[in-house]
Amino acid sequence: MVGAHPSRPAGTRWEPGRYHKFTDHRLRPALELLARVPIADASLVYDLGCGSGNVTRSIAERFAAARVVGIDVSSEMLARAAETPARIEWIQADVADWEPEQAPELIYSNAALHWIDDHVTLILRLFRFLAPGGCLAAQMPLSFSMPSHVLMRETLANGGVNGARLGDDALASAVARKWVLDAGEYYDLLAPEASSLDIWETEYLQRLEGDDPILEWVEATGLRPILNGLDGADRERFIEVYRERLRAAYPRRAGSHTLYPFRRLFMVAMRRA
Ligand SMILES: C[S@@+](CC[C@H](N)C(=O)[O-])C[C@H]1O[C@@H](n2cnc3c(N)ncnc32)[C@H](O)[C@@H]1O
Repeated sequence: MVGAHPSRPAGTRWEPGRYHKFTDHRLRPALELLARVPIADASLVYDLGCGSGNVTRSIAERFAAARVVGIDVSSEMLARAAETPARIEWIQADVADWEPEQAPELIYSNAALHWIDDHVTLILRLFRFLAPGGCLAAQMPLSFSMPSHVLMRETLANGGVNGARLGDDALASAVARKWVLDAGEYYDLLAPEASSLDIWETEYLQRLEGDDPILEWVEATGLRPILNGLDGADRERFIEVYRERLRAAYPRRAGSHTLYPFRRLFMVAMRRA
């Protein structure tokens, strides 16, 4: 059983259906990360925060001889993962206090570690779980300063009637947490122990279709704590005000699409053999 954890204030309940609306855009960075993993063979591979397993299946294809295990805290995501037959083991666990059964050659994590409080300490801990010569590969979104996420926090702070705040202190402080640090901080963390360390950022100019595609995008991910943390009337009010602000910040282009620039941080760290 998975207990409540402070990294998921207000309960970050996931909806796999929403998450898969923009599958191509979400999958691309995951596969680009996997392509940078410089090991040829593995006997044990973990995908942490595997979600509904889209990426885990690609990992299992790449490491055909390995035992591949997908770990996630969300029963909704794991139920979706299990719908597609695969040789992957799906395990429900909180990565914050997870330990591998034995030292793996690869620990992979796409768009998940930033959800966990003090993920910096966690990253070093995960790195130390690796077998000699093993690889830690992770990707996290650099969304904190993007207009969509700044507007999220602003709307929580002043989106109520007459500029009132929506939600309580716990929600405000959960949403104010800077999810992902600057690249140099991960470098300083891992460089002393890594035999090689590759950290890079990519900004994708995402072209999204639909009436309010950026709202739909964040509803599946970064907006989850707010959606889960506000009750009925406040949630409706939040969405109404936030939607208008998003429309102004990201105007729709001719031809009914919207551009959503999205920056991501990648790291591939190798443990000494
Ligand atoms: C944005 S989704 C990414 C899913 C998958 N890695 C992908 O790329 O499609 C983030 C996932 O991290 C999981 N997650 C968040 N916090 C977690 C934790 N503490 N332990 C395990 N999984 C967690 C969520 O349940 C969710 O499935």
